[in-house]
Amino acid sequence: MKRLAVLTSGGDAPGMNSAIRAIVRLGVASGFEVFGVRHGYTGLIAGDFVSLGSRHVGGVMERGGTFLGTTRCLDLMTEAGQEQALGRLRDRGIHDLVVIGGGGSQSGSHALSCRGLSVVGVASTIDNDIVGSDLTIGATTAIDVALESVDRLRVTAASHRRVFLVEVMGRDCGYLAANVGIASGAEVIVVPESPVEPESIAMDIHAAYERGKSHAITVVAEGARYNAEALADYFRRHQARLGFDLRVCKLGHVQRGGAPGVVDRMLAIRLSAAAIAQIDAGHTGVLVGSVEGKIVATPLAEVAGRKKRLDPELLKLARVLAQ
Ligand code: F6P
Repeated sequence: MKRLAVLTSGGDAPGMNSAIRAIVRLGVASGFEVFGVRHGYTGLIAGDFVSLGSRHVGGVMERGGTFLGTTRCLDLMTEAGQEQALGRLRDRGIHDLVVIGGGGSQSGSHALSCRGLSVVGVASTIDNDIVGSDLTIGATTAIDVALESVDRLRVTAASHRRVFLVEVMGRDCGYLAANVGIASGAEVIVVPESPVEPESIAMDIHAAYERGKSHAITVVAEGARYNAEALADYFRRHQARLGFDLRVCKLGHVQRGGAPGVVDRMLAIRLSAAAIAQIDAGHTGVLVGSVEGKIVATPLAEVAGRKKRLDPELLKLARVLAQ
């Protein structure tokens, strides 16, 4: 019987469980015996496999995170680690591997593919920064979780006429911050792609009060040159002149822990179906993603080590909407 393994890697993302479930059930339907790899590439190198049948993946879809576990595994980027991983798959008679994860994880897939493994990547990260998919599994739910928090912060910010610096994740990509900022009606959005000085942010905040606003929500990407802490530090040092009553809220990993919404569940299912179809057709060494509403496969060589650009129109739109 043909054998297939699936693993999740890198930061967990809501919807990963939906993807594992779909890979297992669609894989079984295509005649595969399916194995899960525990704890990402670390488990692959250690040979930590678990047999997965359709009943093992019941009741997982509504849960955030990944029931297989995940790691950030530097060993996979070494020759020895890759050889060990390939050996573990060979020992089990596993010919195909599905890697559910973000940019770093797909660089790992690419490395394994270059060594001759049949591997398909499924685009999944809350950061939504991978080339090869307009949207990645987990990003929408992470935005929804952050939105709920910002909506609540706005209530207390308005009561106290305060400035809130709300930091969201996204590594060095501003996609989460831009979307959270626009959809929450933030007065100011700070992203890594458009570096600004603290003085200019302070002017935007003042301008919001001058326009009659009772508060100023500033959504800051963690990867911005001035993240929330650095900005707060600057504003506090200039408190006498700026006069802000300021609070900081770093949302951090809370954003990753939500139960996946319908967009992430359906994206996970559609990408997983495409991954099985690619394997069935013998087209591997690719990442499956959603581009302009269609599911497409992009060679991993074009994905590895590259980052998707943030749409600059989003930031222009944000400035007008904040008026
Ligand atoms: O890549 C997803 C992500 O949540 C980033 O937004 C964030 O910078 C990073 O992972 C945090 O990583 P860790 O969970 O390893 O602290």
